[in-house]
Order: sequence, then structure tokens, then C-alpha cells
Amino acid sequence: MIRSLRGRLFISLTAVVLLTGLVGGVFAHRWAFDEAIETQDSVLIQIAGLVQNGGLTGARDLHGVDEDSEVWLIELGRAPQGAPEERLLWRLQDGMRDATRKGKPIRVVLRTRSDGSRFAVAQSTGVRDEIAGDMAFRTVLPIAALIPCLMLVIAFVIARSLGPMVRLADELDARRADDMTALPLRDLPSELNPFVSSINGLLRRMHDMMEQQRRFIADAAHELRTPLTALSLQAENLDQVELPPTARERLAVLRQGMLRSKHLLEQLLALARHDAAPLDRTQWEIVELDGVARGVIADLLQQAIGRDVDLGFERAEPTPVRGEPAMLAAMIRNLIDNALRFTSVGGRIDVVIYQDGATAVLQIEDTGPGVAPEEIGRIFEPFFRGQRPEGDGVGLGLSIVKRIVDRLGGSIEAVNVTEPRRTGLRVLVKLPAAAV
Ligand SMILES: Nc1ncnc2c1ncn2[C@@H]1O[C@H](COP(=O)(O)OP(=O)(O)OP(=O)(O)O)[C@@H](O)[C@H]1O
Ligand SMILES: [Mg+2]
Repeated sequence: MIRSLRGRLFISLTAVVLLTGLVGGVFAHRWAFDEAIETQDSVLIQIAGLVQNGGLTGARDLHGVDEDSEVWLIELGRAPQGAPEERLLWRLQDGMRDATRKGKPIRVVLRTRSDGSRFAVAQSTGVRDEIAGDMAFRTVLPIAALIPCLMLVIAFVIARSLGPMVRLADELDARRADDMTALPLRDLPSELNPFVSSINGLLRRMHDMMEQQRRFIADAAHELRTPLTALSLQAENLDQVELPPTARERLAVLRQGMLRSKHLLEQLLALARHDAAPLDRTQWEIVELDGVARGVIADLLQQAIGRDVDLGFERAEPTPVRGEPAMLAAMIRNLIDNALRFTSVGGRIDVVIYQDGATAVLQIEDTGPGVAPEEIGRIFEPFFRGQRPEGDGVGLGLSIVKRIVDRLGGSIEAVNVTEPRRTGLRVLVKLPAAAV
């Protein structure tokens, strides 16, 4: 059973063409053959007519176009005479007959003149059949030649007709996983419309479901924030109270856990906020990427100085992009936050921002340990923290960054620095620059 529609169509149509060609060819051959024999019979009759009217006399051979096709005029006289074959001929009645001459079958027309003398006009049956066969073959030849042409045409028409389907599949394959926009119905054959409408319905339902899930995460994070804030407040109050040292120790652990939970909720909220489908980019305002980065660095500078990390620009040029300032700030903050967290005391973090044609480039490079090669492909997955479960990271930062970059229509990659006597991670973000 052939599963491909194209293969099935091609094979069945080819079978129909071959069958039609075969049946048509056989009939055409038979008819052409019979017709040729009949034509040759009437030539013999016409010659006999000529001879009878005295137009041709005396036994002779009449040559045709080629030597084999000769017609013999045989004088038989008034009574059986001569060779046994001619005697036998004499005994045949007037009209069209089959006989033999020199041991070979012939077709013969016998006639009797008014003076009683008889003659025969004859032709070799073998030669006649050969001529008729030739003519019949030439009738069939065009049909045989047309079949491969028809098969080519069929293949072409099938490929063309199924083209929109193949294009549709390519379009679906090339889509980003979160692209839920409806497939266009125009330029498609009407037979595909119900199919495309169903896919569009499915896309819509999936979009709604993802939206619902996103809202659920956002709502849950939001709802959890209130009790957590209340708990933090209580812990804060407890801090003011006179406590034995062990209780104070426990309290510190408790506050640490709360801080971490708060951070997790913030990251979850941010993830849900930036998880929405890509928006119409033209509606966003133009934001200077270097300006946003400057603000983020100013915020984190104190933290960097505290850890003796040299955080600063290596290159900062005016680079306008389209987006929301908060979104761009969240992206840069998460990247620099990682660099700060993983760079050891005395290290450095270099930020590079410039515009390269239609691309805005942001690069953040640190002197930390980098990421293990087997993990580098997974660091953009939510909750992935690699081999370092310690610290206050929850593994959502790079997922948030990735979603923001996706929404902005850009790309992001992280590579380990491979210079001698140096380690570190280099994150390269490319965004479409706003045309100015
Ligand atoms: N600059 C870096 N140097 C070394 N490893 C890094 C760097 N940035 C990210 N990673 C690795 O990638 C993992 C994922 O980073 P991500 O920012 O998503 O999570 P996180 O920093 O652990 O948590 P969060 O950002 O949500 O607080 C990190 O846990 C770390 O293992
Ligand atoms: Mg992080």
C-alpha cells in the first residue's frame, strides 16, 4: 500500500494511460492491418479490371515501389495447361482466392475473358502481410511514443497540484514552536481549506491553552507573594526580639529561604510576563539599548564593587532597538546578574554594545568558570542550574532572557571563552536594530 498521495496518483494514472494505450494500440493495429489488406485486394481487382478490358496483355510482372511488392499477371489460356500450379489455378473459380505459387501462398484474382481465355492477377501473401504489418506498426507508433510524454505530463501536473500542500508543510515545519498565528487561506486550493481551517482551529485552541497556563503561573506567583510578604514581615519582627543564639541561627536560615522563595516568585512572574506571543514590533517604542544597560550597571555596581569585580563597558555606542524599556532591562539585568554571581573576587565583566548594520549587538563576557561543555546546550531551559545547586539562583534567569530575545525577534548564544590561561562565559545577543 503506497502511502504517498503523489505516488498513488502517479501509479494509478500511469496504469490507466498504459491500459488505454495498450487497448487502443491493439485495436488500431488490427484495423490498420485489415485496411491495408483490403486496399491491396482492391489494387489486385483494379489491375484485373484493366487486364480484362485489354489495357494490359501478356504474362508479366508488375513492379511496385519496392521490388517485393510486385504483382504477377499470369495467363492461364483456355484450358488447363503448363505447370501443375497453373493447372490448379485454372480450376479455381473467378474471383478473389488464396492459392500457392512456387510453393508459397499467394492472393489471386481470377477472371475469364469474353473469348474464354483465363488469367490470374496474383501477389505473394507473405509480402502483402509484411506491407500491411508495416503500415499497422506505423499507426501504433505515435501512440507508443505518446505514453512516456503523457507520463511526464502526469508527473508534472501532480507535482504542481500538490505543491501548495508541500509549501504548507514547509511553512509549518519552519515555524517557531510558540508561533500560533493562523495559516493563510489564500493561494490554497479550495480542497485544502477545511484542512487548513482545522489546523488554524487547533492553533487557536493551543494558543488559548498556553495563555491560560501562563496566566495560571502568573496568578499563582502573585497569590503566593502576599502570604510570603506577611511571613517575611513576621521574620523581620522576630529579628527585633531577644533570641537565644541557636534560634537566631535558625531564623537566619529561615530568612534566607524566604528570600530565595521571593526571588523564585519574581522570576516566575517575569517568565509568565514575557511568555506572551510575539507582539507587533512596530508598536513598540524606540529604546537606546546602551542607555538601558547603563541604568542596569549603575544598579548593580555597588554589588560588583562589594565583590571586587570590575564591571563596566568595553564599548558602548548609541544602539536604538524597538522594545519596552522594562523588558530590555530585565534581559540585561539577568545576564549581568549571572556574570556577577559566577565571577570570582577580583574578576571582570565586560559589556559591549554597538550597532552592526541592521543588527544591535550586546555582548557580556565574564571571567568566571564558564559552563561545562555538556551543559551549555541546556542553560536556557527553565529550572536548569547545572552542577551548581548552591547559591540563590533558581534557574529561570536565562529562560526569561531567551523569551525576551525571542519576543524581540533576536537571537542569543552562549559560548565559553577559549583563550589561554582564561575562562569565562561570553553571551552574545543580537536584536533587530530600530531603523532611525
Ligand atoms: N555567566 C555564567 N557563568 C557560568 N555559568 C553560568 C553563567 N550564566 C549562567 N550559567 C549557568 O547556567 C545556569 C542557568 O542560569 P540562569 O540564569 O537561567 O539560572 P540561575 O542564575 O541559576 O537562576 P536565576 O537567574 O533564575 O536566579 C546557571 O545555574 C549556571 O549553571
Ligand atoms: Mg541567572
